[in-house]
Amino acid sequence: MKAIISDIHGNLEALNAVLEDIRKRDIDQIICLGDMVGYGPSPVECLNIARDFSVSILGNHEEATLFRAGSRDFRVRAEMAIEWTKKQLFDRDQQSSEQSLKFLHNLQETYHDGDEFYVHGSPRQPLRDYVYPKDIQNHRKMGEIFSRVTKFCFCGHTHLPGVFRDDGTFTHPEDLPTGVYLTGKEKVMVNVGSVGQPRDGDRRSCYVTFDGDAVVFRRVEYNIEETVKKVYAAKELDHSLGERLRTGK
Ligand SMILES: [Fe+2]
Repeated sequence: MKAIISDIHGNLEALNAVLEDIRKRDIDQIICLGDMVGYGPSPVECLNIARDFSVSILGNHEEATLFRAGSRDFRVRAEMAIEWTKKQLFDRDQQSSEQSLKFLHNLQETYHDGDEFYVHGSPRQPLRDYVYPKDIQNHRKMGEIFSRVTKFCFCGHTHLPGVFRDDGTFTHPEDLPTGVYLTGKEKVMVNVGSVGQPRDGDRRSCYVTFDGDAVVFRRVEYNIEETVKKVYAAKELDHSLGERLRTGK
């Protein structure tokens, strides 16, 4: 069984809590859909852990950290967090910086496993495309997405978990009895939510497990105040990046 996680965003406490939950289950692969860094106060520690995942793919925050200072894609607080993240990565000892850089440079934009397609954003634009629940009404957009999907697609990026189906419906995990989505003949795109910065109003970390048929949305409590304290201690990180963790918005 696979555990699929995304958008850790430098939140070590959330990542450790999710990994502890994963360890209790029969998981043989951890697949990470990008944005391991950015916003949060522990980017290097999160990258050090991510190096051991079965597969990690590139998110827009890794791309910005590597290549694009001052990108127009980022608002001021996100951009400041990227600059701060770079400093954390490059101001460590040489060996640590080299390891992080090598790992980031080797991240691929997409990953395929049989009829499973893994991306950060969407199959149209793996790094950049946001697919929100309301987009299910946008038949052209969803048609373009599903034309690139054989059966399953897993994504992150919006931090909003749920299941998009090619029959034009979207299901929020809250509307699934016991949080389990059983797949049938339809094509699905599953947003796995965010480990380190949930935005669906539930402040707990989110990830999914997948056994080939059932997608199970899992929520995990972690020590939010510990992370908030670290955000406040880094003066380049806007306080709102800590405060939003308390509400999951
Ligand atoms: Fe993200």
